[in-house]
Amino acid sequence: MSDDVRTALGLASEQSLELLKELHILTREGRLNQDSRRKLKQVDHLYRFIAPLLAEVVAEKGGVTLVDHGAGKSYLGFILYDRFFRHQETGMLHGIESRAELVDKSRALAARLGFERMQFLASRIEDALVTSELPLQVDGVTALHACDTATDDAIRFALTRQARFIVLVPCCQAEVAAELRRTKQVALSASGLAELWRHPLHSRELGALVTNVLRCLLLEAHGYTVTVTELVGWEHSMKNELILARRHEGKPRGNARERAQAILEAMHLAALSPRFLY
Ligand SMILES: C[S@@+](CC[C@H](N)C(=O)[O-])C[C@H]1O[C@@H](n2cnc3c(N)ncnc32)[C@H](O)[C@@H]1O
Repeated sequence: MSDDVRTALGLASEQSLELLKELHILTREGRLNQDSRRKLKQVDHLYRFIAPLLAEVVAEKGGVTLVDHGAGKSYLGFILYDRFFRHQETGMLHGIESRAELVDKSRALAARLGFERMQFLASRIEDALVTSELPLQVDGVTALHACDTATDDAIRFALTRQARFIVLVPCCQAEVAAELRRTKQVALSASGLAELWRHPLHSRELGALVTNVLRCLLLEAHGYTVTVTELVGWEHSMKNELILARRHEGKPRGNARERAQAILEAMHLAALSPRFLY
């Protein structure tokens, strides 16, 4: 494929065409599969945020260990490996995915492509928290659209393994919205502000927002600086919030925990304290 065609397809020069065909992003004839265009765009965009974080760790330590949570077909993992890990002498990329058949496929694909420093664990993330199959200390954690509370489990994993950076694009989290609905009558009688989540649609939308705010405060309370931004334009995905967190040794934001606690109390969400205050 000529450089012109690569450019027209929006592909970087280091991207392996063989991988993109295996992921069905390119057809066998080398054309871009329209259904996969959106996914490729998201993952490529995410790569631009993750690559400098990987490079920083490599510059300091020589190699980087990353764990991708809720990996699914491992689009993100394969693109990261293809564009970054493949060009390094050391470093390891692990994918955690609960669906064993997807893990089998990813293992087979990694073997076919000779991506030797890619490993996949068939496990729920909450079980992976205590597994000895993953290193005790990791440099980076990613979770792209990990369902519901799987993003929260990925955060717990990252905090336990002292990840230097965490990159999250959360999926819909239903737990906070369910608790807002459960305590709605008490909340409505206590404050007019509960009008913000009186209608079920608003409980869902506000629930998702509050969840991500509490996640950010949790990360800040553990000494991370957090940036929240958009992954790609809203026309591409409704699940578009990107949370980037970087660990700063010994400098937790002083009042992050208290602020999270204040939100949980004000919104009658205290039952969810174990999820967001630890
Ligand atoms: C929406 S898909 C996203 C897949 C991939 N990250 C991507 O963006 O293409 C979410 C994946 O997370 C997996 N998953 C959900 N909950 C999980 C959990 N608790 N532990 C491990 N995997 C989980 C699902 O099986 C599914 O493959």
